[in-house]
Amino acid sequence: MELKETQRGIWSSKIGFILAAAGSAVGLGNIWRFPTVAGRSGGAAFVVLYLFCVVIVGLPVMIAELSIGRHTRKNPVGAFEKLAPHSGWKYLGVLGIVTGIAILSFYAVIAGWIIGYFFKAVGGEFQRISTAAESEMIFTGFARNPFYQMLLLGIFILLTSLVIWRGVKGGIEKWSKILMPILIVILISLVIRSVTLPGSSKGLAFYLKPDFSKMNFKILLEALGQALFSLSLGMGTMITYGSYIQKRDNLSTSALYVCIFDTAIAILAGFMIFPALFAMGMKPDIGPSLIFQVIPAMLARMPGGYFFGIGVFLLIAIAALTSTISLLEVPVAYVVDEKGWSRSKAVTVMGSIAFIFGIFSALSNGALEFLTKLPAINTSFLNVMDTAFSKFSLAIGSLLESLFLGWIWGTAKAIEEIEGEGVIFKYKKVWIPFIKVITPLLILIIFGDLLRRTFF
Ligand code: PHE
Repeated sequence: MELKETQRGIWSSKIGFILAAAGSAVGLGNIWRFPTVAGRSGGAAFVVLYLFCVVIVGLPVMIAELSIGRHTRKNPVGAFEKLAPHSGWKYLGVLGIVTGIAILSFYAVIAGWIIGYFFKAVGGEFQRISTAAESEMIFTGFARNPFYQMLLLGIFILLTSLVIWRGVKGGIEKWSKILMPILIVILISLVIRSVTLPGSSKGLAFYLKPDFSKMNFKILLEALGQALFSLSLGMGTMITYGSYIQKRDNLSTSALYVCIFDTAIAILAGFMIFPALFAMGMKPDIGPSLIFQVIPAMLARMPGGYFFGIGVFLLIAIAALTSTISLLEVPVAYVVDEKGWSRSKAVTVMGSIAFIFGIFSALSNGALEFLTKLPAINTSFLNVMDTAFSKFSLAIGSLLESLFLGWIWGTAKAIEEIEGEGVIFKYKKVWIPFIKVITPLLILIIFGDLLRRTFF
């Protein structure tokens, strides 16, 4: 066991793991996707349902994934195969691997936009913006350029690959340790800026005063998908990261810290975006370009905006990088563990696949008309990927994971793993009914309603 652990690599400390897992969780999900989805789903009503999903689904599933990972010390496919040999469960792991590459493919496009906007910030382009329409024009022109879009996508996948090449300790952990604290400081400065802009109170109301009549299953499904996406759950990321945790660390408290931290950053991102958005008279439901329109316009209106601009895009790029690392690490760990590939071959092949698929998303925001408005469904390729994988695949993955843990592997064995070396799992009596019944049932009800809405 000892030998195997050192061969695969292991987090050097509990805080190292928490930072790395938080690095995976905190990313574009919090800063780009959370405001985008909250904006189109009614603001505060969505925020309430989001918090509900983090508690009812997110935390229990996070504990489940971490315990499966640490117990098996494997990637998702190997993990399910080990716990339920020669059964169909390994395909749940396969779904996770496919989802990881798929999410990476469009995620890296948005991350590429961040890099592009970082360059714009350095070039002082945002200082000239005086109306919301101008900031929209900048975005449209930017997203329409096919070569630049592919270049930015390529740069981001390359950056991700370079970090993964170095392995768990040299790469992921070291980066997360240095970068997370910087991220928080810059984010808080921007929130202070946003809430002090004149006219920001309307945004605060939109974000904080829930209109309960707006709550419905459609928004609950959005909230579920967003919670899972933001916490990196439902595709085995936390199985893979959990496989590098030491036995003496307390999984359940680590999971709790990661959930609290991730949620806090998402909520802060909302405070950064919505007050500024309303202060500038923009609409909250613009879609994926939302933060790319709000942040530059806000920068133009603040003293020191030039430096804030450089800081914020740098900060988001870094947060995105610690997430893409975890997206790519899942398929990489799979072929390294199961197929005996070298790490560098695994990174090259998986990174290239994500890049090739990513091109379709990169060209679907104005560069190619066909991909921008797909026939019949009238939405972009990027949106389709996001819906299919962030909303559906992660929810189905989480549903099956909780059923697997609750009914196949069994909560008794999982608790034995969690409490392994004398650790006390304080909330196990609460966790058991959740992971066995409440969590999967909630996901089933949400999907049941979706079927009803679609077919009846
Ligand atoms: N949680 C990451 C974010 O919020 C995205 C992600 C999803 C990472 C799924 C890994 C797995 O940006």
